Amino acid sequence: LDNGLALTPPMGWLTWERFRCITDCKKYPNECISENLIKRTADRMVSDGYLDAGYEYLGIDDCWLEKTRGPDGRMVPDKERFPSGMKAIADYIHGKGLKFGMYEDYGNLTCAGYPGVLGNERLDIQTFVDWDIDYLKLDGCYIEPKEMDAGYPSFGKLLNETGRSILYSCSWPAYQEDAKMLPDYGSIAEHCNMWRNWDDIEDSWASLTKIMDWFGDNQERLAKHAGPGHWNDPDMPDYGSIAEHCNMWRNWDDIEDSWASLTKIMDWFGDNQERLAKHAGPGHWNDPDMLLIGNFGLTVDQARVQMAVWSILAAPLLMSVDLDTIKPEFKAILLNKDIIAVNQDPLGQQGLRVWKKTDRGARQRLEIWNRKLQDGSSALAFVSQRDDGIPYAANFSYEEMQIAQGEYEVQDFYKDEGVRHWNSEQDFEVRINPSGVKFYKFIPKTSRATSDAYASSS
Ligand code: GLA
Repeated sequence: LDNGLALTPPMGWLTWERFRCITDCKKYPNECISENLIKRTADRMVSDGYLDAGYEYLGIDDCWLEKTRGPDGRMVPDKERFPSGMKAIADYIHGKGLKFGMYEDYGNLTCAGYPGVLGNERLDIQTFVDWDIDYLKLDGCYIEPKEMDAGYPSFGKLLNETGRSILYSCSWPAYQEDAKMLPDYGSIAEHCNMWRNWDDIEDSWASLTKIMDWFGDNQERLAKHAGPGHWNDPDMPDYGSIAEHCNMWRNWDDIEDSWASLTKIMDWFGDNQERLAKHAGPGHWNDPDMLLIGNFGLTVDQARVQMAVWSILAAPLLMSVDLDTIKPEFKAILLNKDIIAVNQDPLGQQGLRVWKKTDRGARQRLEIWNRKLQDGSSALAFVSQRDDGIPYAANFSYEEMQIAQGEYEVQDFYKDEGVRHWNSEQDFEVRINPSGVKFYKFIPKTSRATSDAYASSS
């Protein structure tokens, strides 16, 4: 969306991944979605260096509303949890030099069951403008995915007409990707004797349980039918239109606080990169969802993977963690300036998974992610989805890494290794922890590896 905003991927903090829909402030005073949580997070974002590092948006996700609108039809913030009202919150946030993000849903209800905007679009936009918001995440529960192609643009138009600069974060494709992928099992059962429902099985316990889990998770729509057939609407989503009308968009499933969820999302973005990556650029970004870093589910190595891959994907960097209690090793990952610079590279070109290899079952996997940067250097993440014991050593050619031939200075973003000097005539050796990453900046040293060479090699 060309509204002058999000020229680099938006950075900030959102309530959802960590704090979900915790509304009982008596039982969970430090975790409930409330003024207290927002204010103390605003304080931390400034005092602990997050704002200086670039994290500027502070957003309230779902569960901030009263269940019914006011007598004037307006949205009402929960009276117990937000007693001062949203304008006061906005003033507090702005007073700290931060920007204020809010959440609503295009349908009848939000995903957690609070009033959605449908039928009240103009009034709600006016209310948001009265509250001085700077960012709106518009979700897509309780509305038909087909209606989004017209609905999201028309809501965005109204938002733009207010004259206030509001970053527009859409969930439009996420629901359409889901709708598209649902096969018509009625038709399949009518026309086939049997049908493979899902991924190839591999010779491992990990693969067996992944497939068992999928069949269990999907049993309600599978058990009563059988078979793959026609997709509901293979033309959806229209990413050209989405990029024209939104500053960022959630493409797919919600991230959950686990390595399994993180790798599932990474895999999906890698598998679908040809249709997705070309739509990213200044003003418009694919969004693989929030950063899990600092919560319960990821080790330090796994958290490093997410930060590396999200920076290569030019993804919005939206933390969702308790900034009062985050451990220093996770904080250091979130505040790694060199990695943030990759994410925020002004060229705005989304990187790609350029190489992958899977051994003995889906988990034993290595991959290389590569993003070209404006200064002619490249950021390369060597990710291990292996879980077989010790750090894994591997050698890669410049062709596998998809980098121009020549000499490079190679800097380790996580500073475990000193600077290396590497010539593409040799293989590049890495040693990666299980479910970990090695993340390097490759800086060309010779004329052969300048941007001319990139041009001719790409
Ligand atoms: C959906 C979104 C999440 C979050 C919840 C809130 O699931 O994808 O990011 O906003 O709704 O209910």
